[in-house]
Amino acid sequence: MPLDRLHHALAADLEERGAKGILKGAEDVIVKLLPADGERGPRFLLEGQGDRPFIKMNANGYLGMGHRHDVIEAEEVTSRAFGTGPGAVRFISGTYQHHVDLERDLAAFHHREAGMIFSSAYAAIVGTLVSLISKETAVISDALNHNCIINAIRLARPSVKSVYPHNDMKALDEQLTVARGTCRRVIVVTDGIFSMRGDHAPLDEVATIVRAHDDAFPEGVVLVVDDSHGVGAFGHSGRGTEEYTGATGVDILVATLGKALGVNGGYVVGSQQVVDFLRESAPTYIYSNPITPAEAAAARQALTVLDSDEGLALLEHLRAMTARFEKGLVDLGFETIPGEHPVVPLMVRETARTSALVAHLKANGVLATGLNFPVVPKGDEEIRFQVSAEHTPADIDFVLGVLGAFSDSAA
Ligand SMILES: Cc1ncc(COP(=O)(O)O)c(C=O)c1O
Repeated sequence: MPLDRLHHALAADLEERGAKGILKGAEDVIVKLLPADGERGPRFLLEGQGDRPFIKMNANGYLGMGHRHDVIEAEEVTSRAFGTGPGAVRFISGTYQHHVDLERDLAAFHHREAGMIFSSAYAAIVGTLVSLISKETAVISDALNHNCIINAIRLARPSVKSVYPHNDMKALDEQLTVARGTCRRVIVVTDGIFSMRGDHAPLDEVATIVRAHDDAFPEGVVLVVDDSHGVGAFGHSGRGTEEYTGATGVDILVATLGKALGVNGGYVVGSQQVVDFLRESAPTYIYSNPITPAEAAAARQALTVLDSDEGLALLEHLRAMTARFEKGLVDLGFETIPGEHPVVPLMVRETARTSALVAHLKANGVLATGLNFPVVPKGDEEIRFQVSAEHTPADIDFVLGVLGAFSDSAA
């Protein structure tokens, strides 16, 4: 067989990943959505699991936008009128009114001059960082930043790269001081919400430190924030970590349309000059299809809902369900990291117990994500729960009941 030797090498690689415990393994296949019914939110049927309904406590759809009739209707009407795919990249013939309208609305929502959509937030970060990192750029990055930031920096090959310990503002300040004289431009990049634990960057402090060093570099210090888990889930009106921390001075904000907004795609908002530059330079924008016109219309409808009294009510319900779940965990004797973000970690701090708990949850119809070493540091093993505005008080109590049954049997 011509690929025998390659297959051998690939099998060995997978085996090594298995031994390290980092294989993702078989994926759950969703075969049916059971819509919300009375006091219970949506449930899902999985391939091979018969009629047992599962509640998702591991999804990013924090506001349930993807299941709303008005959002689905916007997508359906637009795909009937304009077809499914965009048919080309943006600068050839793939730009539709829906893309332009969404970009304008995203910029207005975030109080920025301009917005620009990408096929995903991953593509948005890669396109932005690769374009803005020149040979004379130093990059300073939080140690827990998302994989898209890490890979974008690798691809961009900056002249200087430094990583500060998670949220360590003293180290960020020191690294900016060390960078003086080594480069023309500095990019400081951080997640807004860190998705493993639902904690957030102190963006107000980050922005203040960045400003204090700005004049020391010929092209200044640029602050780039990826708040993919923050927008639509955090801050009083869902404007994310900037709003929550009261930060001003985030130069370039990146986020996704595929989590709280319930659709698909990513975006950048910032100054007109930066966006004009990125349209001419970001490879993941220029050479890759945009989201479909129908997705753009659906995302625009979701944004309209978010930016309304209904959006505020959804966010309030999300905070109430998050608080109910956190309190329930503590009442059951579990450890969590308190916070307003709907990512709620249950800190198990032990591999075998984490795996046993996840298996117990699944056996009882609850989908949640176990994170073991080396995905998280030893001692930080956890189950990551994600609350949604689609969850009802009865849903939250159901999950707590399942967890309580485990602690009873383990006691
Ligand atoms: C911080 C961050 N950036 C980007 C992404 C990727 O988003 P998308 O699916 O839109 O590429 C994620 C998703 O987990 C994320 O947590």
